[in-house]
Amino acid sequence: MDLRFEAAAANEYAENTKNDIGFKVPQIYWNFTSENVMTLDWIDGISIRETEELKKRNLNTEKIAEDIIQNFLRHAVRDGFFHADMHQGNVFIDNNGQIVPIDFGIMGRLDKMSKRFLAEILFGFIQRDYRKVAEVHLLAGLVPKNVPIDDLAQALRSIGEPIFGQAVKDISGGKLLKQLFDVTEKFNMQTQPQLLMLQKTMVVVEGVARKLNPNTNIWTTSKPVLENWLRETKDPIIAINETLQNTSEVIKRLPEFPEIMDKANQALTYLASGQIPQNSNSYTALKSKKSEMIAFRNQSIIGLLVLVIFGLLVF
Ligand SMILES: Nc1ncnc2c1ncn2[C@@H]1O[C@H](COP(=O)(O)OP(=O)(O)O)[C@@H](O)[C@H]1O
Ligand SMILES: [Mg+2]
Repeated sequence: MDLRFEAAAANEYAENTKNDIGFKVPQIYWNFTSENVMTLDWIDGISIRETEELKKRNLNTEKIAEDIIQNFLRHAVRDGFFHADMHQGNVFIDNNGQIVPIDFGIMGRLDKMSKRFLAEILFGFIQRDYRKVAEVHLLAGLVPKNVPIDDLAQALRSIGEPIFGQAVKDISGGKLLKQLFDVTEKFNMQTQPQLLMLQKTMVVVEGVARKLNPNTNIWTTSKPVLENWLRETKDPIIAINETLQNTSEVIKRLPEFPEIMDKANQALTYLASGQIPQNSNSYTALKSKKSEMIAFRNQSIIGLLVLVIFGLLVF
């Protein structure tokens, strides 16, 4: 363990969230921080687990419950950098009523590409076009090529449709996650540590909020944050999109994707057909393209699963 790394996480998190009203990450004192010592602002406040104490001080626990969910989601989708250990012991309400997280030892990250896929697939989800969502998964290499597209679409529908019809208050985040895991297993999708972290933390954050206010509705609470984010991320895609006519061209909307894909495809074809001597420079170059593509594919897996979660939240 190197506490300078934890301090750097706190510092990055503070920078990302400095304009988030009602949310405050304590300041790090670098001059008093080393591998074994981390020095940060002392928080004068109450632990979030002291619901009665918070109420006694006239703090609105229902609002705090909503705010903690919204902040968590905003950090995940906007910044791609989220606190992944948000249990009751790591959250305070300070004397100004602000939410203050501590303990930055476990943070999660979502990369730019994952967020882009997320936007693309989410769009299909919101339109309840499960087949299109499934197609995008296949095109993006999020599921193996041999997965029957209609079966995948059907599985996505089985998760999506009940959400439309149900009273949102009755839906359990935990149960939903279980269902998602089942589907991912069935279609042989890889699980990503970053994604697991997001899912796990979501369940924890939901629990923290429900302890403050048992009637907290995670879905309606999440909706405005996700809608905002969607509006922002969707616009550039729509612009690129105008010339595109059908979903099979969807990949062209993702500017960084085709180049990598084309080169990697070529590379794989050449390699597979044995046209290139294994000791040549081109062989080495092509091999590196191949690993580039594999790395890219692994990164994008996050996109799919995160998307499903958020897709459902938006309903
Ligand atoms: N900045 C702080 N201000 C006030 N109390 C703190 C602060 N940092 C930590 N604590 C207290 O110390 C406890 C343990 O700190 P934490 O960073 O969560 O370490 P751990 O990784 O052991 O959980 C917290 O639950 C909290 O009660
Ligand atoms: Mg802790």
